[in-house]
Amino acid sequence: MSTVLITGAARGLGLEFTRLYAAGDWKVMACARTPDGLKGVEGDVQHHALEVTDYKAMKALARKLDGEAIDVLICNAGIGGSRGSPGQDLGGFDPGEWRRIFEVNTLAPLMMAEAFVEHVARSKERKMVAITSVLGSLASNNGGRYFYRASKTALNMEWNCLARDLGSRGITCVALHPGWVQTDMGGGTAPLTIDQSVPAMVKTIAGFKPSDNGRYLQYDGTELPW
Ligand SMILES: NC(=O)c1ccc[n+]([C@@H]2O[C@H](COP(=O)([O-])OP(=O)(O)OC[C@H]3O[C@@H](n4cnc5c(N)ncnc54)[C@H](OP(=O)(O)O)[C@@H]3O)[C@@H](O)[C@H]2O)c1
Repeated sequence: MSTVLITGAARGLGLEFTRLYAAGDWKVMACARTPDGLKGVEGDVQHHALEVTDYKAMKALARKLDGEAIDVLICNAGIGGSRGSPGQDLGGFDPGEWRRIFEVNTLAPLMMAEAFVEHVARSKERKMVAITSVLGSLASNNGGRYFYRASKTALNMEWNCLARDLGSRGITCVALHPGWVQTDMGGGTAPLTIDQSVPAMVKTIAGFKPSDNGRYLQYDGTELPW
């Protein structure tokens, strides 16, 4: 049986990842601040309480899972910033909001990768996935949402560095954009439903080969411009 660890696993895209992997007979380490959303999910799902910016708790969890093999690590937890707040717009920048967004979207996934690299290295599949965004692409930037965009651009760079450091250990590191999806973050007008995005991501992740290490892809496996 293969194992996946997912952050932000009890809501939005993370919850659907949990459902799909569990239904596919994976062991799911579902990391979430509260387990409420996981109620009723069938299969081998273990809830681990994790606030991703609590690095002491993160390291304690890594120690607790010492000896376990994690085939796929999905760093999914993320925030977009206060909806409708001018804090991310030129003229209204809110430094506290910048720190909050970068902490969750950029620093926490890197700390996850460091904390769980040995668990991934001892697995069969050896895959590390950062759920990023096309809004982090410099090549397709059309401005606005400075903090969220920059947090994902920096996340992409981190994953590119990890790919270079970990490729020789057979670990495949990919930055994966889910598409614009109808979740609390994506909003109701997003063009994709969760059912269109997450099964496609699961399929794309299943198809990763070592040669995909260091790539920046969208949910269906299409390459994105950095
Ligand atoms: N939806 C889109 O259109 C879209 C597009 C591009 C990229 N993404 C990325 O996809 C990922 C998932 O987004 P989503 O659309 O599913 O958003 P969502 O519905 O708002 O869910 C966000 C998830 O992240 C978790 N989370 C946030 N801060 C956390 C923290 N400090 N510690 C632990 N968990 C935390 C939330 O947990 P709680 O329930 O505890 O709050 C929730 O499970 C994010 O990285 C996002 O940037 C989404």
